Amino acid sequence: MKKIKLFEAFAGIGSQYKALKNISKDKKWDIEVVGIVEWYVDAIIAYLAIHHNLKHIKKDKTTINSLSLNSKDLITERQFNNLQNTEKAFFINKSKELCNNLFDITKVTYKEMPKDIDIFTYSFPCQDLSQQGKQRGMTKDTRSGLLFQIDRILSEMKKNYSINDLPKYLLLENVTNIVSKRHLSAYNKWLDKLHRLGYESKTYVLNSRNFGSPQNRVRTFCISVRKDFKEKVNFSFPEFENIDKKNKKIKSILEKEVDEKYYMNNLMTYSKTDEKKSKNGLIKCYLKNYTNFNSEAYLYSIEGKGPTLTASGANSRIKIWINNRIRRLTPLEAYLYMGFKKQDFNNVNRLEILNERQMVFTAGNSISIEALEGIFNSFKF
Ligand SMILES: C[S@@+](CC[C@H](N)C(=O)[O-])C[C@H]1O[C@@H](n2cnc3c(N)ncnc32)[C@H](O)[C@@H]1O
Repeated sequence: MKKIKLFEAFAGIGSQYKALKNISKDKKWDIEVVGIVEWYVDAIIAYLAIHHNLKHIKKDKTTINSLSLNSKDLITERQFNNLQNTEKAFFINKSKELCNNLFDITKVTYKEMPKDIDIFTYSFPCQDLSQQGKQRGMTKDTRSGLLFQIDRILSEMKKNYSINDLPKYLLLENVTNIVSKRHLSAYNKWLDKLHRLGYESKTYVLNSRNFGSPQNRVRTFCISVRKDFKEKVNFSFPEFENIDKKNKKIKSILEKEVDEKYYMNNLMTYSKTDEKKSKNGLIKCYLKNYTNFNSEAYLYSIEGKGPTLTASGANSRIKIWINNRIRRLTPLEAYLYMGFKKQDFNNVNRLEILNERQMVFTAGNSISIEALEGIFNSFKF
């Protein structure tokens, strides 16, 4: 077994760790997480539940205050005081102890960074790049500009350590819009920077459905490999075959019976258009005169592929047409849709700390496990 050291920046619920663990047996890898950076309390709790299966939970106090309660803003003093003597504080402390969580990326210095990282992942916030947002881009004062923190940390590491102490592989993940006309020059500057840091990089636009997921989730990934290491192991950048042998459909992740609360009986009064099959394998129709927001009005056939699950907005409430009724996906189905296992969901759910919306939020923010498995499978050590 070869020890593979993983560092997850913007760790979320740890799709990266999950995917690596899934393929580790075949690859004869022993995965060790040597650090994470995640400041969002709900994601920290879910991460620990999924990957560390914590049993003895108690109320605790914490001194760690570079946290966020909504994943976007730094916690206020009042919110921080309210965290004291709660189970959440227990999880925050545990994530420091068990995962070496460095919390707020803006405060991380090279001195805290482990040397000898094999895989460093950075799926930084997409809000300012996504088509749904204002598209302010990657600048010093936007959330997507947190990419520059990765620049800062890697540059500091290079300056103060030797090149051999920089991570061997880097993996970027973000929305496809990062390579759109509007953001391409900023993205290309980042690729130049990676080159100057000593990496060779290749950008991919990949759809999870081609990796055995029932979900159409098209995302940009950038694999970078340290040049000296690339030569040492004779790594060549993968060409992903776009063949989904499993051809999974929405129905593959559905629960047999779900609570009545997931059925949307009020929508049954609207008439539906005829179903249409898209080239991506979606079979959908929409509810006439229900709303002007197209994505809110779509119903998906369970015999087809599904749309991208998002953390919030209409696509966090994906509606399916099943047994002549309309319902939304349950939080368990949202986890399965992202490639997590039922056990992962159960571990989070049984804590009764995250509500259903928070569970779907953290799942929709994550990365399809199937796509990550495909990518990591190409890595060589
Ligand atoms: C797109 S999500 C990544 C999700 C992750 N790939 C997963 O598997 O769940 C971006 C993450 O960055 C985190 N984040 C945003 N700002 C941060 C900051 N200043 N410091 C640390 N994490 C931050 C968010 O809380 C969110 O979990």
